[in-house]
Amino acid sequence: MHHHKNTPESPIGIFDSGVGGLTVVRAIQAILPSERIIYFGDTARVPYGSKSQVTIRKYAQEDTAILMRYQPKMIIVACNTVSALALDVVRKAGGSIPALGVLEAGAELAVSVSRQKRIGVIGTQATVCSNAYACAINELDPDIEVHSKACPLFVPLAEEGFTDHPAARLIAGEYLREFDGHEIDTLVLGCTHYPILRGMIGQTVGPGIRIIDSAEAVARRAKELLAETGMLGMSGETPRPHLLVSDLPQKFGMLYRLFMGSDVPDVELVDV
Ligand code: DGL
Repeated sequence: MHHHKNTPESPIGIFDSGVGGLTVVRAIQAILPSERIIYFGDTARVPYGSKSQVTIRKYAQEDTAILMRYQPKMIIVACNTVSALALDVVRKAGGSIPALGVLEAGAELAVSVSRQKRIGVIGTQATVCSNAYACAINELDPDIEVHSKACPLFVPLAEEGFTDHPAARLIAGEYLREFDGHEIDTLVLGCTHYPILRGMIGQTVGPGIRIIDSAEAVARRAKELLAETGMLGMSGETPRPHLLVSDLPQKFGMLYRLFMGSDVPDVELVDV
């Protein structure tokens, strides 16, 4: 294992299967505006959520290796699918660098807000099949009932910008009917893309259900951990994120505008 000296000025490395992890970049920038960010989106191999555990673990290892070239002080796994199935792979490949996953943070926040102890979780096929959210939630509180539903069509809907489209509402109605009668009081958005559809999902499940955005949850955790370890970045300005993708940098740039609501920095192409 190689060691390098990381300082508060080192970047936070964030990766995802594609563009969805930008919801985590946005959440980090909102509460940690002085941090340098290096982001890798594996646009050549997205989606991960419909692939096998073996493949997802191999990709996770390679994605971490790409970020390690930039000597990050922390790695954030923005992809719920990788958090569910391969966080241990990332921790091993990162050596002494702390690695946080969106899933643990989202589960913790959901447990802290649920009063009725009935939580709904939506995510990709792989995330829901892994049962990782239910395990993480029940490890914190075994009395909580967890109901999960895979909503794979939400990912392309978000990427098409169908955030408030009748077709998206129809599909949401179909998927989220799963929760009727279970009386959940909390719904975890267990996939990077879903915060883009948050308004529409909230209207579909109706008022009175707390929506948990795991991107915000992991950003809060990152801030706590950096503060505890004396690694908070100090630079006065807000640096623009350094963006890496494995395919179609221009398309990534267009989606960046949708996810971030701001202009795109340069996007660099890397091999996987
Ligand atoms: N990033 C994935 C997740 O959060 C969604 C897209 C994919 O399936 O790769 O689970």
